[in-house]
Amino acid sequence: MLRRLHPDQPDSFAFTPANLDWAQAQITKYPAGRQASAIIPLLWRAQEQEGWLSRPAIEYVADMLGMAHIRALEVATFYFMFQLQPVGSVAHVQVCGTTSCMICGAGELIAVCKEKIAEKPHQLSADGKFSWEEVECLGACTNAPMIQIGKDFYEDLTGDRLAEILDALAAGDLPVPGPQNGRYGAEPLGGPTVLKDGNENAPEHNASVELAQRLGDGIKRIDGSEVPLLAPWTDQGARAIDQSAAAPEPRPAEGKPVDHTGVTEQEARAKTKAKPEQAPAAEPVNPGTRPQWLDGPRDGTPDDLKKIKGIGPKLEEVCHYLGFYHFDQIAAWTEDEIAWVDQNLEGFKGRVTRDDWVGQARALAAGDATDG
Ligand code: FES
Repeated sequence: MLRRLHPDQPDSFAFTPANLDWAQAQITKYPAGRQASAIIPLLWRAQEQEGWLSRPAIEYVADMLGMAHIRALEVATFYFMFQLQPVGSVAHVQVCGTTSCMICGAGELIAVCKEKIAEKPHQLSADGKFSWEEVECLGACTNAPMIQIGKDFYEDLTGDRLAEILDALAAGDLPVPGPQNGRYGAEPLGGPTVLKDGNENAPEHNASVELAQRLGDGIKRIDGSEVPLLAPWTDQGARAIDQSAAAPEPRPAEGKPVDHTGVTEQEARAKTKAKPEQAPAAEPVNPGTRPQWLDGPRDGTPDDLKKIKGIGPKLEEVCHYLGFYHFDQIAAWTEDEIAWVDQNLEGFKGRVTRDDWVGQARALAAGDATDG
């Protein structure tokens, strides 16, 4: 398949401040002079932000890494995972057409995509909301036929069910991903034949689906606000996330000679204008305001945050990473700040509100015991 840049290109590209912070942190993973190794994650984040890779985006990333534009273009045009044309504003549907899925009905799914989205792959639907393509095996062969939409798999599909999923997405809903025929995971279609006992208290869905539902970001574009633990090896990523007004650190490749593989010395330049915000596909979540954080516990001794009911060792670790060490810090959070923390507890979203951390912290700061 010939992979070319799309004829219609935007004027410019720029990472959002949070994504720029993330990208700069990724570059620190590589030794000086080898920043070009970060090309794939940075291109991927650019695609996660915009949905596809435009020429300005590819060149912007190349400039960040001190690479000749042609080197970044080579990477972007080589890998099929990079979309070189605009994708649907709501969803891009990837239909697996490899053996298992093909035998089990991928043709029917493709027919639905042709009928409901566009006759040809990589074409936008008439309303611009959807696009589709056929892809190679996505590794869920036992649950064939299947598709990927955004971050989620929809498995054990039929044409009718895919049509319903597309209708739901068009209406602003996010259908539950995973098996669509009542299967829990990848057990035999007739039900499990081993390990049949002890499943009475299993959650309604398998762990992947549970997590996807909890995060609810299957088709969300990545603006960087959702993941604070950006660069735990540097302490830089998370600390800088709400300081977008501050001037960014000089890029590692800026003004430095690079290697002898044909990459020329360039000044990193990212003077592109910020792209207008795209209309969100779903109701935006209040990003909130980051509360005051500390570089470390006062007097070197943190409060035992595990006294707050709902905070275990792992969540306490996350709180410390975010700069929260003391009951009085948590006790002072406003509603906006609670919203920020709730959104940024990766894997534990919503716990602050659910477990009333602030009320508990107020009691603990006042010397009272909680009922936990
Ligand atoms: S053949 Fe479709 S997921 Fe493997």
